[in-house]
Amino acid sequence: MDFHLSKEQEMLRKMYQDFAENEVKPLAQQVDEEEMFPEETVKKMAKLGMMGIYFPKEYGGAGADVLSYVMAVEEMSKVCGTTGVIISAHTSLCANPIFEHGTEEQKKYYLPKLCSGEWIGAFGLTEPGAGTDAQGQQTTAVLDEKGENWILNGSKIFITNAGYANVFIIIAITGSHLDRRGRKVKDISAFIVERTDKGFSVGKHEKKMGIRGSSTCELIMEDCVIPKDRLLGQVGKGFKIAMQTLDGGRIGIAAQALGLAEGAIQEVVAYTKERVQFGRRISQFQNTQFQLADMQARTEAAKWLVYKAAMDKQNHEPYTVSAATAKLFAAETASDVTRRAVQLFGGYGYTREYPVERMMRDAKITEIYEGTSEVQRMVISGNMGVK
Ligand code: CAA
Repeated sequence: MDFHLSKEQEMLRKMYQDFAENEVKPLAQQVDEEEMFPEETVKKMAKLGMMGIYFPKEYGGAGADVLSYVMAVEEMSKVCGTTGVIISAHTSLCANPIFEHGTEEQKKYYLPKLCSGEWIGAFGLTEPGAGTDAQGQQTTAVLDEKGENWILNGSKIFITNAGYANVFIIIAITGSHLDRRGRKVKDISAFIVERTDKGFSVGKHEKKMGIRGSSTCELIMEDCVIPKDRLLGQVGKGFKIAMQTLDGGRIGIAAQALGLAEGAIQEVVAYTKERVQFGRRISQFQNTQFQLADMQARTEAAKWLVYKAAMDKQNHEPYTVSAATAKLFAAETASDVTRRAVQLFGGYGYTREYPVERMMRDAKITEIYEGTSEVQRMVISGNMGVK
């Protein structure tokens, strides 16, 4: 195993760090307080190739690797959790399934638009009655009488990037079949839906605890008409496509969690070296040092789990379990580390004068979206043969 970054990866990391420091950090508080989707930042990231980092150049991507993508999400999330998840949902949940399951025509049409940032992508799986139980879908898709168009009906909730996205991967029921035991099973399929499609609209915008600049909305499909060739993959394979997509998405969210933990540690180190109580800098107290040591050790462990999952995906090794493990550990680390950061800041940590309270709020969602920590435990234990 090589624990060193290549020259290209080092260069990219430096570029992401500079961008985060100069372009993302100055806006982070405003993004949070005003629930501001950072549209201008997204355009700037797109110019630097950050909206399609690991896709081949022939499809408009930057031609880098999955680890570089993970480092981009990590670096943005160190200073702004909202910016981190915008890249993650766009790349892992929309561009990636098109790249992996799309026809050549679909890839040639959608990927250059997504990689250039001209279009933003999103993913619609969750419904009011289908959260953790992702097979409990109600949205339907039926072919019209001529067999030329799919007609979609239903709604999706909690969709990241929804308010600004131009293209959505939508999961819907296309029929049913009997399984080996004679039980009726839903056929679930995946579709590419465009924002301008007839019968498609974006509904309620959620007001959230954290990642407040990220646009989280409901999607509504009322006799939404899309051409037949917008099916993604084969009929009936949509659940597997959704699960595989989420495997990759979980690596992105794990990277977001890692960045949040690292960002909080940086803030605590700087603050405790300045703040004086009882005539000493609080960094000189053993409680501070031991807390920081624990925070750092956990975060470093999370980093290697996240990087390992990224390398598994890059190397076409199975990554369902490594992604679940990375997300579980990194998300719980981010929540623990940011909570301790607020505690070490004391009263100031509870105010909006410092970013650690925002980081603590942002961290919480990493234990919930793209599969709760309980779902990750189900995936990990299921692979230990104890299902
Ligand atoms: N890759 C490929 N196929 C997979 C798979 C994977 N990772 N996981 C399951 N499958 C396949 C199985 O092999 C099985 O196939 P067969 O029928 O051919 O045997 C099929 O899918 C069903 O598998 P399970 O019986 O294990 O499925 P289940 O219904 O018991 O569900 C689950 C398992 C892990 C709980 C799953 O439903 C799950 O991950 N739930 C959480 C969903 C989730 O993460 N939602 C977040 C949505 S995105 C979001 O948060 C919004 C956003 O915009 C960010």
